[in-house]
Amino acid sequence: MGTVIDGKKVAVSVIDKVKDAAGALKAKGGPRTGLAVVIVGNDPASHAYVSSKSRMAKECGFASVQHTLPAETTQADLAALVATLNDDPAIHGILVQLPLPSHLDAEPIIQSIRPEKDVDGLHVVNAGKLATGDLKGGLISCTPAGAMVLLREVHGADLSGLNAVVIGRSNLFGKPMGQLLLAANATVTMAHSRTRDLPAVCRHADILVAAVGRPQMVKADWVKPGATVIDVGINRIDAPERGEGKSRLVGDVDFPACEPLAAAITPVPGGVGPMTIAMLMANTVIAAYRAAG
Ligand code: GUN
Repeated sequence: MGTVIDGKKVAVSVIDKVKDAAGALKAKGGPRTGLAVVIVGNDPASHAYVSSKSRMAKECGFASVQHTLPAETTQADLAALVATLNDDPAIHGILVQLPLPSHLDAEPIIQSIRPEKDVDGLHVVNAGKLATGDLKGGLISCTPAGAMVLLREVHGADLSGLNAVVIGRSNLFGKPMGQLLLAANATVTMAHSRTRDLPAVCRHADILVAAVGRPQMVKADWVKPGATVIDVGINRIDAPERGEGKSRLVGDVDFPACEPLAAAITPVPGGVGPMTIAMLMANTVIAAYRAAG
């Protein structure tokens, strides 16, 4: 039986440190940490994520501002809002929730956020710092940063000699996750939808990280016995067993099948998800400290 990694518990300890840091900054005459979250349109899942981010920011003692824009917002309107937030000294972190409605181009919006306020770590300056091994100077994407904190709980900081396989190559997760694993001395394979014989590639993994957005795709025969499995997926599936019209959240890993094989595994919900929000708060307070000089 694998150890089920308690992401909620680890997230609480990160949040406690963030609260202390935000309080200490104010106590020494610094600013109140400010986070602006921008959401465009009506996607219910995105609204749920954004509400929990805003709620947690308040709990950390931050000034939390949420900008909810209608689905028909133009590129120019969104760019203008980001420009205003860039120039607002009370705002230390800016997060534009993705995906944006299809008529909007996310990339120029993300690249227009000042790198020092880019708490998602998506600006090329932050992605570039990570890629060149500068782990302290920029801001790192929250979900991979959170996944690394959970891995550290199991393996410590040095992953020398371990094979890590990341399934998924997104800018938001897969690529930065690969960079972080590499920086921790793991031997990293980036797998994706075009990888040949994905199950065989995964069976080499001492650390298997799944971020594909396909419910329960990773099966027991993909998992090397004794591996650590990090499930980044959050998928809503029908759950008729809970009653008519009911649904439930599952990850990209078939948890009941893989858990007996893994030495350690993250659940969904309660694994990586809470860590994403905790690391967003950590990035925001770091940005506030840097702004205060
Ligand atoms: N959509 C899903 N996850 C994220 C995230 O971490 N940041 C942003 N901006 N959008 C998301």
